[in-house]
Amino acid sequence: MNRKVTKAIFPVAGLGTRFLPATKSVPKEIMTLVDQPLIQYAIDEARAAGIEDFIFVTSRGKSALEDYFDHSPDLEASLMKSGKDQLLEVLRNTYMDSGAIAYIRQHKALGLGHAVSCASRLIGDEPFAVILPDDVIAGEKSCLQQMVEAYEETGGAMVATMEVAPEQTASYGVIDVAEKNDRVMSVNAMVEKPALGTAPSNYAVIGRYILTPDVLKNMENIGAGAGGELQLTDAIASEIDQGRDVYGYLFDGQRFDCGSKAGFLQATVAFALARPDLRDEFTTYLSDLGPIKHAAQ
Ligand code: G1P
Repeated sequence: MNRKVTKAIFPVAGLGTRFLPATKSVPKEIMTLVDQPLIQYAIDEARAAGIEDFIFVTSRGKSALEDYFDHSPDLEASLMKSGKDQLLEVLRNTYMDSGAIAYIRQHKALGLGHAVSCASRLIGDEPFAVILPDDVIAGEKSCLQQMVEAYEETGGAMVATMEVAPEQTASYGVIDVAEKNDRVMSVNAMVEKPALGTAPSNYAVIGRYILTPDVLKNMENIGAGAGGELQLTDAIASEIDQGRDVYGYLFDGQRFDCGSKAGFLQATVAFALARPDLRDEFTTYLSDLGPIKHAAQ
C-alpha cells in the first residue's frame, strides 16, 4: 500500500461536558489556549506533517467550528485597510481551501471508533491520520510529522505513545510492547482503559494515529468495548489478531491533556511562557504570585 499520508480525521463530536457551562454554546475545540482555539493547534500540526485533506466528524451544536475555518472578507478588508499585516497573516492561517475540508455528522455518540468509521467513505484505499485535538503536543517537530516519517519506514498501523504513571493507565488505551527499537515499538496487544493493576505496560496511547482502511473494516466486526462504546483501540487490536503489524511511536514532545481542566490550565501556562510577546510579563506575574485572596467565583 502507498505510504503517503495526506488525509486526517479529526473526531470533534464530543459534548465537552467537562467544560460546562462554557461548552453549552462554544464547542470545546474552539476554546482558546492563549489566543488560538484548540483545533488550530491540531490543524497546524497536521499541515506540518503534510496533510492536505481535513475531515471533521462533528455533531449537533458544532457549527462555530465550520465558521472558524471560513474566509472572512470583511475582517480581512478592515485589517488590510489599517495595515495590520501580522494580524492578517494570523487570520489567513485559519483559512481552509474549499474542498480541503469536509464535515461529517456522527448522529449518535457511539464512541471514538464509531466516530472515525463515520469518515470511511472519504478515506478510500489509503492510509490516514487521526488527530484528537484534546491532546495538544508541543515539540520541535510536530508529533504527527515524526510519525509520518516513521510510518514511511514501517507501514502497518501506528499509535502515538508515552509513558504514564501506573495509576493513570486506566484512563487510556495501553499497549503491550513486544520489541522496542529506538522510538518505534512493535505492539502485540492493546487494551482500552484497563482496570487498575491489569495494564500490560505503562505506555499509554496518545491521540495521534496513522491507520489503514483495514482498521475501518475491523470496526464493522468489533462489539461495544470499554464504557459500552465502539473503541478505536479495539479495532486496531484486531489488526494484531489478523497478523498485521501495529506499532507504538514514542514521540518527542510534551503532551497536554486539554480534555481536563488541569491539563488545559497547564497548557495555557506553558504556551504563554513560550510566547515571546507574553513571556516576560507572565513570568513576573507567576513569580510574584502569592496566595490568591479573591478567586473568581
Ligand atoms: C481516547 C482513546 C484512548 C487514548 C486517549 C488519549 O480516550 O480511546 O485510547 O488513550 O483518547 O487521549 P478518551 O480520552 O477519549 O477517553
